Amino acid sequence: MPRVHVTGDVPAEVADALAASFELAPEPDGADGILSLLTTRVDADLLDRAGPQVKVVANYAVGVDNVDLAAARARGVVVANTPDVLTDATAELAITLTLALLRRVVEGDRFVRARAPWTFGLEFMLGRSLRGARFLVVGPGRIGRATAALAEALGARTAFAARGDDLHALLGGADVVSLHVPLRPETRHLIDERALAAMQPTGVLVNTARGPIVDEHALVSALERGTIAGAALDVFEHEPAVPDALLALENVVLTPHIASATRDTRVAMGMLAVSALRDVLLHGRRPPNAVV
Ligand code: DGY
Repeated sequence: MPRVHVTGDVPAEVADALAASFELAPEPDGADGILSLLTTRVDADLLDRAGPQVKVVANYAVGVDNVDLAAARARGVVVANTPDVLTDATAELAITLTLALLRRVVEGDRFVRARAPWTFGLEFMLGRSLRGARFLVVGPGRIGRATAALAEALGARTAFAARGDDLHALLGGADVVSLHVPLRPETRHLIDERALAAMQPTGVLVNTARGPIVDEHALVSALERGTIAGAALDVFEHEPAVPDALLALENVVLTPHIASATRDTRVAMGMLAVSALRDVLLHGRRPPNAVV
C-alpha cells in the first residue's frame, strides 16, 4: 500500500477511508502522499524530507496558500485542493457574519449576558438591514457568487469586484464588502489603508477568505477612527493570534476560521482529498481537483 502522511487530526470517516487504501505514515519521511491541513506549511523542506518518491499533496482546504506550489511543481508533485464542497457552508458564514454585524447580534448577546439594565425601546440598539444594502463581493469565484446569491435572496443589491476592476471606486459605493479572493502575493493586503479609506464611513468589511488579504493594523486603525463602521472576521492576519485592539471593539464580530466548519462539509472535503490521493497513488491519474 502507498504510504500517506496526514499532518493533523481528521474526521473519523476520513480516517477510515484513508486506512482502507493507504498505510499511514506517522512522519513525512518516505511518504508517497501528504494530506495537509491548512495550518501546515508545505514547502521545499517538507517535500524534501518526504523524499523523491512523494507524488501528491492533497490539501484539506480550497485555499492552497500554505503550499509552496512552485516547490511542488519543481519536484513533479501534484497538489490538489477541496473546491465546491465547501462553497455553500462558506457563503452561509459570510452572510451569517454580515447579519450578525448589521443587526448587532453579538453585541446584543454580550449586552444581555452582562446583565446591563434595559427595557424595550424604539431607539434602542438599532441596526441596519441587509435588504437594500449595496453588497460588494470582492472575488467573483464560486464562493463569492454563492455569497452574492444569498445576499440577493435577502434583498441586497450585489456587485462584484474582479481583477482589473477599479477596486477603490467599487469600495466607495458599497455598504458591505465581502472578501472572496484567494491569498496570493498580489492579494496580500489588497485591503490596505488606502482601500479602507475608500470605503464609506458606514461601510462594513466581512472577511471569510484569508487574514493577510487585509492589513489588520490598518483595519484596527480605521475601526478605531470610525472611517468604516464595522468588521466581521473569520480569519486573521497572524492566525490564531488576534490583536487585543480588535477584541476591544464593539463593532466587530469575530469567529475562529469556521467558514467550512459543518460536519458534512468537513467530511466531504476529506473525501475529496482522499479521492485525489487515490487518483495519483492507486490509479496513476491526475485528480480533477489538481491545482498543480
Ligand atoms: C479553506 O478551505 O480554504 C478554508 O479556509 C477552510 O476550510
